[in-house]
Amino acid sequence: METSASSPSKGIFDSANLEDRERVIELLRRAYWMEIETVMSYLAASVNLDGVRAQEIKESLSEDIDEELSHAKRFAERIKELYGVVPGSDAFSAEQHFLQPPDEQTDIVHVIRGVIKAETGAIEHYTRIVEETEGVDPVTQDMTIGILHDEQSHRRLFEGFLREYEFEGIA
Ligand SMILES: [Fe+2]
Ligand SMILES: [Fe+2]
Repeated sequence: METSASSPSKGIFDSANLEDRERVIELLRRAYWMEIETVMSYLAASVNLDGVRAQEIKESLSEDIDEELSHAKRFAERIKELYGVVPGSDAFSAEQHFLQPPDEQTDIVHVIRGVIKAETGAIEHYTRIVEETEGVDPVTQDMTIGILHDEQSHRRLFEGFLREYEFEGIA
């Protein structure tokens, strides 16, 4: 490689790093869709669930919707900053088959397990982004670490809910 003494590095914006940039954009697109689908699933569950015990879960999911939407916005903005295009709805394909409405809307455990699975999927993908942007794109890495932290805390919260149900022999 040529020495960059005469032209300082612009990191991920360097034309020499085009391939890296496209790879990061692809990872961000997947993250964006994961957030959008999570908004759909949590919105439905936060309305659908029935019963006295469901109220806490519904409120928690309701708060999460705003947070997940803000994640989607941040991923979208970063795609744009990297000269990518935020995809349109035609490119969407659903993956959260485990988080479809249960047969009985009082089946809170089904929703709790689904949320834990969705958060786990996000944690795995964002951990991959953090790893793949190491030394490549520190700004995307930094942003994703913040979002990863949110997902870890969501997952921990719902694990606590599940533990309570398991303790009571309902799950
Ligand atoms: Fe999220
Ligand atoms: Fe989350």
